[in-house]
Amino acid sequence: MPSRIHLSKVTAELIESFHACVKEVAMERTYLSIVEPPSLDVLRLAINQNVVDALPLVVGVEDSKVIGWCSIVRDRREGFAHTGVLGIGIAKAYRERGLGRHLLEETLAKASHVGIVRVELEVFASNKRAIRFYVREKFEMEGRKRQARYLDGQFDDIVCMARHIKPSDMARSACGIQETNTASVPGLEYSAAPLKAAIRKLDR
Ligand SMILES: CC(C)(COP(=O)(O)OP(=O)(O)OC[C@H]1O[C@@H](n2cnc3c(N)ncnc32)[C@H](O)[C@@H]1OP(=O)(O)O)[C@@H](O)C(=O)NCCC(=O)NCCS
Repeated sequence: MPSRIHLSKVTAELIESFHACVKEVAMERTYLSIVEPPSLDVLRLAINQNVVDALPLVVGVEDSKVIGWCSIVRDRREGFAHTGVLGIGIAKAYRERGLGRHLLEETLAKASHVGIVRVELEVFASNKRAIRFYVREKFEMEGRKRQARYLDGQFDDIVCMARHIKPSDMARSACGIQETNTASVPGLEYSAAPLKAAIRKLDR
């Protein structure tokens, strides 16, 4: 049976479901730096900004329901625009089945198309699964913020990680970054391509 899960950009029809997915993961109060989702309006604005910047935001969808996301948001400050900050989350029921890897690979590929060279992230030290996931995906540890979070009576350190990706469009502008829109980025306007067998355990 072919997988019913596919990767997609966030269409207007998916925004509320995307919001619900972010809410679900945030309210676990464990993995994300937020414990509540942004409002739907703020999320819409952020998505619109992402589209304007042609920055990748990829979601996993099953039966019109968003079950995970991965985004890379460019650091817009002068001198830092080659850098993007990664965010990723998979709904609890869909973890450890390969979806995270697919979302990450797709998002990194799109980031390289818009001239992002360095992708960085922060992960809680207690989040061993995510750290292992990032190491496996070639992110390197760069530092540690000690006792960075105090939540629900517990301190947690933050581990800073980064990966350098191959820029495919560096020649297009002086600093390697081209302001562009989605239409001019090959492959960014993709839709609902079915995932291959590589999402390995989802159809069990
Ligand atoms: C971290 C997360 C994004 C990983 O996505 P996923 O779909 O669960 O991971 P995958 O199934 O794609 O696993 C890819 C690799 O991660 C590692 N991994 C996954 N689950 C693991 C576990 N329980 N223990 C150790 N390593 C694990 C493995 O190296 C795995 O590769 P392998 O299957 O070849 O051994 C996902 O679990 C998640 O959303 N967790 C909650 C939110 C979160 O932590 N977000 C990150 C905040 S910084």
